[in-house]
Amino acid sequence: MSDGGTARASESGREGARKAAEGLEHLSGFGNEHSSEAIPGALPVGRNSPQRAPFGLYAEQLSGSAFTEPRAENRRSWLYRIRPSAAHPAFTRTGNGALRTAPFTQTVPDPNRLRWNPLPEPAEGTDFLAGLWTLGGNGDVAQRTGMAVHLYHANASMDRVFSDADGELLIVPERGGLLLRTEFGLLHVEPGHIALMPRGVRFRVDLLDESARGYVCENYGAPFRLPDLGPIGANGLANARDFRAPVAAFEDVERPVEVVNKFCGNLWSATYDHSPLDVVAWHGNYVPYAYDLRRFNVMGTVSYDHPDPSIFTVLTSPSDTPGVAGADFVVFAPRWLVGEDTFRPPYFHRNVMSEYMGLIEGAYDAKAEGFVPGGGSLHNMMSAHGPDRDTFEKASAAELRPQKIDDGLAFMLETRWPVSLTPHAARAEHLQQGYDDVWQGIERTFRPLH
Ligand SMILES: [Fe+2]
Repeated sequence: MSDGGTARASESGREGARKAAEGLEHLSGFGNEHSSEAIPGALPVGRNSPQRAPFGLYAEQLSGSAFTEPRAENRRSWLYRIRPSAAHPAFTRTGNGALRTAPFTQTVPDPNRLRWNPLPEPAEGTDFLAGLWTLGGNGDVAQRTGMAVHLYHANASMDRVFSDADGELLIVPERGGLLLRTEFGLLHVEPGHIALMPRGVRFRVDLLDESARGYVCENYGAPFRLPDLGPIGANGLANARDFRAPVAAFEDVERPVEVVNKFCGNLWSATYDHSPLDVVAWHGNYVPYAYDLRRFNVMGTVSYDHPDPSIFTVLTSPSDTPGVAGADFVVFAPRWLVGEDTFRPPYFHRNVMSEYMGLIEGAYDAKAEGFVPGGGSLHNMMSAHGPDRDTFEKASAAELRPQKIDDGLAFMLETRWPVSLTPHAARAEHLQQGYDDVWQGIERTFRPLH
């Protein structure tokens, strides 16, 4: 097929995906016990594993937590599918591309503040999986601790199907809409939304625009959950009802389908004789979600100072130490700043937690320039950072009227362990040189009285 033919084919593929994405129905509520059937009567009633499931379907449990975890932590779903997942040939190793996995031991952990520009253009025909590029991470995948920071840049929809045994995937689109075709049904996300794909769930990513770019947190640890609200009360931050789960939708396809499985850091491939996205009905609380970050109910001061950015936590993956997250996903969403006698942008600080930041759109209120959508910065454990010189000068002199911040959407992944880089991130051409300079020339203003 000529290049023109390929382009036309992908265009019609995008049109089809756009159509499928429009007006999708969904189930609502994070952590709910959902149930859905694509064909009425496909979901067994009153039992999970009847002697013969309806319509000749196979019943299968997918466990995202140990069988014996406390009820509040327990996550599993029952799937009723055309073929059991077990019906597949052997997997064989395939190339990992630029995907890497913890432990990240190939570079010396770097205390410097680092910042990257967006990923370069990918080669023609790069799908979401091939477009994944690992920046770094921490922990150990075999111990189910820590996380990896990946970026992606793709220009083709996936034909193959992917699942990640190593962790759940928090997908943060920055450019280009995505249609996620999952075992549980379809989810549509646009820049400004996030998707959460549980460990082991199979899915395919269709592009809704010419290219797609964004971030992925691969969480090896405890599944993300909504943070406790403490004195905030029963509502606020990310409200559970705003999370969308798919309704059942299945592919009844008999043709060779490549299925790629990420397992302990490597990609393994098998060619099935059917699509494994063949779940006709399901129920449970282990499901993918999508969430529009603009629905985040932002809390902040109405008097002075501003609270620590933990107040912006959307989802948290707790570690075994109470209050200390393996990973927090934090969003800096549009909000009013009203603090009196307050330096309003993020303050100068050093943090025992390590911070990776990305920008989905616009600008971030602590950085006047250089931190661009699709780029990212890493401020590792105890590194000193905060507003750049221009921001500091402007904010120190600003008239403190109520001010709406509505020209940007930034996020932070905050983690208890330092983030070590992959060699390709440490040597990347798009790693900015001279990031330290944004804090140079901060004027000495100390004027002691004599
Ligand atoms: Fe910070």
